[in-house]
Formats: sequence, C-alpha cells, structure tokens
Amino acid sequence: MKVIKSRHITLTNENAKICVPITGKNRQEIFAQAQAAARMKPDLIEWRADYFDGVSEEKESGAFMRRAEPVLEGLKKILPSVPMIFTLRTKEEGGTVSLPDEAYREICIAAARAAREYPIDFIDVEAMRTENAQELIGEIHDAGCLVIGSNHHFQRTPETSEMVEILKAIEKTGADIAKLAVMPLEKEDVTALMEASASADECLNIPLITMSMSELGAITRVCTKRTGSVITFAAGVDASAPGQESVEIVRRALAYHMNCRLHGNIALIGFMGTGKTTVSKALSRITGFREVDVDQSIVTSEGMSINDIFDRKGEQGFRDIETEMLRTLAQEQGQIISCGGGAVLRDENVKILRETGTIVLLTATPETIFERVRDHTHRPILNQDMSLSHVKKLLEDRQPRYQEVADFKVSVDSNDRVQTCVEILKNLQEQGKITLLS
Ligand code: S3P
Repeated sequence: MKVIKSRHITLTNENAKICVPITGKNRQEIFAQAQAAARMKPDLIEWRADYFDGVSEEKESGAFMRRAEPVLEGLKKILPSVPMIFTLRTKEEGGTVSLPDEAYREICIAAARAAREYPIDFIDVEAMRTENAQELIGEIHDAGCLVIGSNHHFQRTPETSEMVEILKAIEKTGADIAKLAVMPLEKEDVTALMEASASADECLNIPLITMSMSELGAITRVCTKRTGSVITFAAGVDASAPGQESVEIVRRALAYHMNCRLHGNIALIGFMGTGKTTVSKALSRITGFREVDVDQSIVTSEGMSINDIFDRKGEQGFRDIETEMLRTLAQEQGQIISCGGGAVLRDENVKILRETGTIVLLTATPETIFERVRDHTHRPILNQDMSLSHVKKLLEDRQPRYQEVADFKVSVDSNDRVQTCVEILKNLQEQGKITLLS
C-alpha cells in the first residue's frame, strides 16, 4: 500500500479521495461553486486558478496574489480545513491560460508560500511542459507544499509503454504524486490507461492519479484500486474535464469498488443495442466479478460468427446452441452473464438464469437503440431490415416478455455507464444479492 501524508490529508491507493474542482471566473462564481461543493462534502477541492479572470495578463506574482488572497480567504471560510490543490492549467494541457514559464513558476511558488495561511496542500505542476520542473518543484517543497506532477493528452491516448515512461519521467522531476490524464478514442485506449497505471503503480515509488477522460473512460475514475489512483476528480457545479461524474455517483461507485460479494449470478438481458456487453464489462471492472458474454462464448466454441451460425443452422439452430451455452455457463457462480437479446424468449433459458441468479433488464427507447445499432452488421435479426420502424416493432413484441422475466430494470438512456452500474449495484444490494464487505 502507498501512503502519502500532506498537512491536512492522508492519501492511499487503497481508498481514493474525492476532489471537486472550482472553476469560477470571479470571486462571486468561485464562492457560489465552493458553497455548492461544501454540500457535496468532498475530501479535497482543486482551485483551477487558470479560470480566474485576468491570470494571463498578470505581470508578476505579487499582483496575482493580491487578487488571489481574498479568494483563498473566502474558500477557507466556506470549506474550512478542506485541503486544496492549486492548479494553473495551461492551454497546452487543456486549461485556459497561456503564461510565460517565468510567470507560471512565480505564481506556483507564491501559491505554495500562501499555504502558511491557507489549506493549500498541493501545487499542480505540469511536469513535462515546464522547463526546469525539478527546480520549481524543489522551491515548492521548500515552501512546505507537496507537488502533483501532471501531464495531459486531450487528443489521444499514448501507447501503454509510453504512458508508463511518462509517469516514470514525472517521478524523476521530484514530484510527490504523478498525474496522467488521457483521451480515449476507442475502448482499447481505456484498457491501455488502466494497464499502464497498474504497472506504473508497481514500479514507481510515488502514488498516482490517472484517468481516461470522456464518458468512454469514466469507468477509470471509479476503478481506483485497479489504477492505483489516490485522488479522483468528480464534478462540482461544473466539470473541469470531460467524463467527470457527480460526487454522489463517484462516492457510491467507490463504496462498491472491489468491495462486494455476489450471491449467485447476475444475468443482464435486454434488446440488442441496450449495452449489455458494455455495462457487463464496466460492472466487472468496478466489482471485480468475472464477466462472461454468451454470444462471444458461442462464437468461440462454434468457431464462427453469429451471422454464419444463422446462415448455416437457422435461428432454431442458434437458439439450441444458446440454451446449451447458458446451461454450461450457469454452472459457475459469482459472475455477470451478458445475454443475447433473444435469450430470454425461451422459457427454458429463463429457468436456467433464474435458478442461478438475478435477471437485470436494461431498457432504452427505440430511438436510442436505433442510434446505437444502425451502423452494425453483426446482428442477423436486424440485418434484414435496419430501420427505426423495425426496431420499434421488434421491441414492442419483446418488451412484455423482458419486463415479465426481469427481477428489476434499469434505463440506459442516460448513456452513462458508471451511473447505470451504480443503479444496478444499488438495486442488487437492496435485494440482498450483493453484500458490502466493509
Ligand atoms: C439476438 C441478439 C444478439 C445475438 C443474436 C440474436 C436477438 O445479441 O444473440 O444476433 O435475437 O435479439 P445482442 O443483443 O447482444 O446483440
């Protein structure tokens, strides 16, 4: 376990703390956001001072601090003893200021010195961008603050090995925590960030804060025991980066994260395109429960695609294989079974799933579904007629059956997989199907 103590907080990679960013442009906005944040009871706040009007024009740190002091005074009153990260995020790394290195450096040091009077525990330093990062970090340390050495990639996700190297390079600058934020373009990028983070957590001596941004990467913000992150950022009044969930959702997800026991299995059912595979993978990442995909297992065991099985054996042939597969998979317990959209049309299949677990229905409007499936070609049932009216008709036919066999249902129209997972886990907990370990 990694532990790092600052003046007001102890951080560990076993139990990430929640940080809410404050992004107001002026005192009024900053204090309004702080008041809202106070109600959310965050563990830390981050003052994104780059949003503060006029920072870019600041000629010297003295002038900045004269304007910043009343802000810090107010934040201290509104959020007494909530430790703060002071951040000047530059345009190059997704923020709003363009500052010459010297001004950037001076303001960071002045903020660190202000920590004598205000609960500023950490200064964020863009470790890969700033020349002489090492020197700057040394001066911040002398002023009594810890440093989060950060690096951001808003356009893409670097290769796994490159991300590990970046985190190692940040450690070399003398930072106390290494932070890396990347933008995923496809789901493999999210896995890459999680892998890079886990392996960097093993080989670095300092703790990490890592995240894959946007809704696609949001899962990384609540899988902190996998990434080793000691802090996770959650949206206050505004999000300061894409993919930040609300504090409440993050808090709940973290409570479930690698911390629950599953009784029996969870079977995810629902129409094609409701996201059973996506949600099942996300649930598995949060909880650590094993995840199996019925269609994928069929493709592997038959050695051909679902389209080919339909072509060669017809729908009945596919359904027989599906029943056999469900019977095999249901012999194991403690797993999430992601079912094909037609699986529960057979009574026999419902019986198999019921006997071994809880059936959870994912629902979505026909419009949401159509948007998600319209460019796909791997579903023989839709291939014949890829139209909204066909989706509507099929959904109407199947919906009563789905509703009848499900133990409970959750809508996925929010398009937010973390929120969907939290809702499923909450329901499972209420029904006694999962229990929290601590
Ligand atoms: C089907 C749904 C598919 C797959 C097969 C039949 C259906 O699964 O099992 O193409 O009848 O609804 P998904 O719901 O995962 O696309």
